Amino acid sequence: MMRTLTVSRFLTLLLYAVPSLYLALRSNILLSEIALTLSSISEGAEPSTVRVPNESRRKRHASLPNGLAHCINSFEQYPFLAEQIIQRKYGRFAKQTPAQKALSNKLGYAEHFTKAREGIETNAQFTNKVARIAREKYHTGPQALGATDDADFGLVDMTFGHLSRDWTSQGTRERQAVFPPILDGLNRHFNVNGNSKKVLVPGSGMGRLASDIADLGYDVTANEMDYSSILTYHLLANHTTSLHQHSLQPFVTKWTHQANPSSRYSTLTLPDHWPNKAVQLVEGDFLDIFPQDSKFDAVVTLFFIDMANNTIDFLSNIHRLLKPGGVWINLGPLKWGTHSALQLSTEEVLQLADLLGFDVDHTSRKSIDSLYAEQPETLLKFTYVTQFWQATKRM
Ligand SMILES: C[S@@+](CC[C@H](N)C(=O)[O-])C[C@H]1O[C@@H](n2cnc3c(N)ncnc32)[C@H](O)[C@@H]1O
Repeated sequence: MMRTLTVSRFLTLLLYAVPSLYLALRSNILLSEIALTLSSISEGAEPSTVRVPNESRRKRHASLPNGLAHCINSFEQYPFLAEQIIQRKYGRFAKQTPAQKALSNKLGYAEHFTKAREGIETNAQFTNKVARIAREKYHTGPQALGATDDADFGLVDMTFGHLSRDWTSQGTRERQAVFPPILDGLNRHFNVNGNSKKVLVPGSGMGRLASDIADLGYDVTANEMDYSSILTYHLLANHTTSLHQHSLQPFVTKWTHQANPSSRYSTLTLPDHWPNKAVQLVEGDFLDIFPQDSKFDAVVTLFFIDMANNTIDFLSNIHRLLKPGGVWINLGPLKWGTHSALQLSTEEVLQLADLLGFDVDHTSRKSIDSLYAEQPETLLKFTYVTQFWQATKRM
């Protein structure tokens, strides 16, 4: 009996160890980290996949911009982190009785593990490319930029969602709900004469809105401080030679809320449109990266103002950066974080805008239902009732 238990424990460990070792060696992970992961698996602990880098780790990469090393590390470790998720699913599947397993196999369930691993491989080709190009751009050298437990699966997963929203044809529906009111607002304000008008898009994410505004002839500055978006946009804008060049299976680890078995393996190709190379992407915090006052004719905020620790800072800065008579166009939810000093209603945000020196065009206001970075075929969707308005800086 004891011997059978030992053999079965050994086989279980082997099941976990082989893919872990394979992926770890591909990702240059230290052997000590593999040992740590295996020991946590053998103890039955669920290894955490979402970690925030601590201060001492940050200091090791003081020469790199804040968050860059963590981001590159997360992209490099993606296959390992995704494999952990599949292993946990397999662990639960394998615990079924033989009769239950036989039934599950009749559904073809075991094939999901093979297919998911193929999808992870597809995604890893993309994440490795992002990381390699980032290492070249920021001259990181070849050294490891973090440990396995300093990598964040959620960061890569969100990147896939943002990519799908901005740069795939599957994201068209999402974009169609929120881009036209903004583009129309700009064209109305400038009488369709965008040439040479300077537009700032802070919190530009993956950059599609900024690119579409530039396509209309505006002189666009995009601004972003999150490196998962900055690095991925860099790959699309500067290291992509054909449309639909890159493939992703963003949902391979998401097995809940699916109507069809195949939805988990939907393949998206990107980019579906060329990023406009005239867009200037400024990396850094919008609050301190633009020293010059009255620089822009328009500031466009899409799903952005509720990211503020203090919305007075954001609105004051938008006001400071606009030329007198310049327009602020906003579309987004008011999903204030728990860190926000103020969690204002729409009416309060607009009163605040008035107090800070904006003339709010109340006739422009509307509510627009919008999804955000959703899997197109999921059975669970969150709808934001986004708030749209235009306001001009008082002369
Ligand atoms: C919810 S996302 C929206 C992204 C994009 N506008 C869209 O609609 O897809 C908000 C973005 O704002 C960025 N962000 C938040 N605070 C920022 C700041 N102070 N400076 C620059 N970017 C910021 C975040 O990194 C994130 O990419």
